[in-house]
Amino acid sequence: MIEKGAKIQEPRGKLGILLPGLGAVGTTLIAGTNLILKGEAKPIGSLTQMGTIRLGKRTEDRVPKIKDFVPLTDLKDIVFGGWDIFPDNAYESALTANVMSKEDINKVKPELEAIKPMKAVFDPKYVKRLDGPNKKTGKNKMELAEQLMADMNNFKKDNNLDRVVIVWTGSTEIYLEHDPVWDSIESFEKGLVENHEAISSSMIYAYAALKCGIPYVNGAPHMTHDIPALDAYASEHRIPIAGKDFKTGQTFMKTLLAPGIKARMLGVRGWFSTNILGNRDGEVLDEPLSFRSKEITKTSVLDYIFQPDKYPELYKDLYHKVRINYYPPSGDNKEGWDNIDIFGWCNYPMQIKVNFLCRDSILAAPVVLDLALFIDLANRAGMYGIQEWLSFYCKSPIVAKGLYPEHDIFIQLMKLKNTLRHMKGEDLITHLGLDYYE
Ligand SMILES: NC(=O)c1ccc[n+]([C@@H]2O[C@H](COP(=O)([O-])OP(=O)(O)OC[C@H]3O[C@@H](n4cnc5c(N)ncnc54)[C@H](O)[C@@H]3O)[C@@H](O)[C@H]2O)c1
Repeated sequence: MIEKGAKIQEPRGKLGILLPGLGAVGTTLIAGTNLILKGEAKPIGSLTQMGTIRLGKRTEDRVPKIKDFVPLTDLKDIVFGGWDIFPDNAYESALTANVMSKEDINKVKPELEAIKPMKAVFDPKYVKRLDGPNKKTGKNKMELAEQLMADMNNFKKDNNLDRVVIVWTGSTEIYLEHDPVWDSIESFEKGLVENHEAISSSMIYAYAALKCGIPYVNGAPHMTHDIPALDAYASEHRIPIAGKDFKTGQTFMKTLLAPGIKARMLGVRGWFSTNILGNRDGEVLDEPLSFRSKEITKTSVLDYIFQPDKYPELYKDLYHKVRINYYPPSGDNKEGWDNIDIFGWCNYPMQIKVNFLCRDSILAAPVVLDLALFIDLANRAGMYGIQEWLSFYCKSPIVAKGLYPEHDIFIQLMKLKNTLRHMKGEDLITHLGLDYYE
């Protein structure tokens, strides 16, 4: 953490946001940002654009917008780019994703058409249900990493950018078991040269980004920079990283409900969650090994919130089941069903049913925007390594070794806002004394 009120570099010039994966989430972010810039939409769901922050005592009545409080990059200074295994430009890809209406997409057609994906580093070994033609070739993984570094540097130079950040919006890769090749940067680089199979495509992107000094956020549940080699490299080279797995849809609901149930010391016997979705993400997650990556990030949430070791009478026997069902007619409009079996005074059972008809990418786009803007802010503030204060946006927050992740969304929000207060030399709000509500 930086010193309280340390100097933050102003966001001069333009910020590049590079997205590996120009699918539903990526194109919804780009289309939405351009619609906002044209005055055709509001940045709903974005804390950086709409959120406020209380400063000092409640009686002081100082509540600026977050974007007026910390020096964030203005939306007009963002340049988007990315990679994809499909050569479609962002306009074509947005139409395929079918998240926004054609009418809305057409309003920003030229801006979207201008974004053509660079050739991806991709191996179907790590994303089984997918393959496409727009891929790089090279004699080994190190050579592919070098090609990505060239892409990153050229993107920065060609667009006359001051800074670049990367947010992974590509497909979820399969679950990988720990391998010693991940343990140090030396073994990792040797593994790249030797085409080690424990190094996935997303790890090659993360490595290339860090080598270029670019902050990196992982929006998917798979392992990427949360391996010792890349985590240590980011800290040693003072580069901020964050992740993982955007907190949207069902897990967002879980982290709203579970802290409330626990706060009132109500017990939970079972929590069954099922998702019905028909987008490409759903198709990829239909594959058991990709689902395994997601299952781990989705199920660990409740364990951390309920702390069954501390409250065994309430949560020790909690049966938690998560299902993802691929059902093409649903498209991007995911349906989440939760059945929660709770119990109260004298063990009397009750049930809560939640049926969330959500739009995955509509929820995810502002999360990606905020993560990109905040990780750039962290970089300009001299903060590096894992940015735990960005856990607010993540289903499975990465944390320093030996710490447990915080999943309660309200604690996460307090940590985020207190980090901003600390950055600007303001007093932290502890909710003690009279300052009870924010
Ligand atoms: N939408 C949400 O609410 C949400 C929430 C949490 C996490 N996520 C994650 O975000 C990611 C994107 O979701 P989506 O709905 O946009 O999926 P999508 O399938 O629409 O888009 C992913 C894109 O990534 C591309 N891709 C795959 N591997 C690549 C690689 N190695 N390099 C470059 N491009 C690659 C695919 O071709 C595809 O166009 C997924 O991993 C998903 O699990 C999404």
